[in-house]
Amino acid sequence: MPLFALFLVSLLLPRSFSDSNSMIVTYGKPINYTASYSHTSTTWEECVGACYQSLSCVLAHTPESPINCKLFDVNKVFEVEKLESSSESLVAFKAINSGNTCPTGDNPPTFGNSRNQGTASNQIANYTYDIDYSVDETWQLSYTAIPVCPNGWTQFVRPSTNWCIQVIGGPDVTYTQSQALTNCENLESTLTGLETIAERDFVANTAIVLLGEDYPEHAGFWVSGTRKPECYADGWESISYCTGTNLQQFDFTDGYLTNYAGYTWDYRQPDRNLNGPWANCIQIWMRNQAKFPQYNYTLFANGNADDAVCDVVDYQSYHLRGFACGKIPEVPVGAI
Ligand SMILES: *[C@@H]1O[C@H](CO)[C@@H](O)[C@H](O)[C@H]1NC(C)=O
Ligand SMILES: *[C@@H]1O[C@H](CO)[C@@H](O)[C@H](O)[C@H]1NC(C)=O
Ligand SMILES: *[C@@H]1O[C@H](CO)[C@@H](O)[C@H](O)[C@H]1NC(C)=O
Repeated sequence: MPLFALFLVSLLLPRSFSDSNSMIVTYGKPINYTASYSHTSTTWEECVGACYQSLSCVLAHTPESPINCKLFDVNKVFEVEKLESSSESLVAFKAINSGNTCPTGDNPPTFGNSRNQGTASNQIANYTYDIDYSVDETWQLSYTAIPVCPNGWTQFVRPSTNWCIQVIGGPDVTYTQSQALTNCENLESTLTGLETIAERDFVANTAIVLLGEDYPEHAGFWVSGTRKPECYADGWESISYCTGTNLQQFDFTDGYLTNYAGYTWDYRQPDRNLNGPWANCIQIWMRNQAKFPQYNYTLFANGNADDAVCDVVDYQSYHLRGFACGKIPEVPVGAI
């Protein structure tokens, strides 16, 4: 009957990434790894505690005597051989211990040979990992980097995914909608939709900063939305979703848009600009409140949507000065 020296270290020490990990101790030794480092510990408990406290460490290992503490970081150790107590070779896995009791079952940390998991992070990425026990009496560790918004992009939470938004523009530049879309595509993104008021406000507030406090005119920034062809072809008035403020009258290049709550129409919009060229694309408004105190900013809030002429950048007293791009988070370069 093999003896498992098992204990869970629930050291209540400050941790920043995840507090749900524990250290789970058993007999074994790492047999596939690309790097390890020594930690000066006089006891096994110290060695295990050092791994627990290090955000990047996923495994600690030492012979029982003398103690020679080696720590293994996330994405550096892949396989650990299970050994008997007679080996006097200790390992401690960092793994999730949901619940406050000691789990039971063979082969900790994969109690009863079911998958356990952990979280860790290094300079490149945050990771989750699986620990699986296989018939050849080894544990396998496999890592998944958590996707993030790259620098320059701000993350928002949507029902189906997280979403990254970047706003581009300025007081001296103009873009048609197709130029804006091409710029987004060059950043491996598309024009963003406005899923929530928080997304709208972020785009509007960032656009106002880009325009500068002395910006003297009205400005539009492109967001996702192009009127469906049947909603401006003859007879569109008889198609119910084409009428009024229905957002269904537009197609969206933003494929992760599930809600239109961030599209708040400006007063009496969308109006299709029926007296001039058709206005089939969606922009949002930025007006410098200090320059235009006469506007009622309840009805004409910055960030309100309007249908604008897709390929015109200057129209009467306003200009299309920018756009907002969106994309899903990415696995950081250099992670796996
Ligand atoms: C070590 O683990 C890596 C990652 O799982 C794997 O690609 C590689 O084949 C393994 N090497 C050996 C010798 O098993
Ligand atoms: C890991 O996650 C933490 C907390 O969410 C975050 O502050 C940190 O920037 C992330 N690190 C990387 C490299 O993505
Ligand atoms: C601005 O518009 C809102 C909404 O119609 C209205 O309640 C408010 O009285 C208006 N404010 C001014 C100063 O006209």
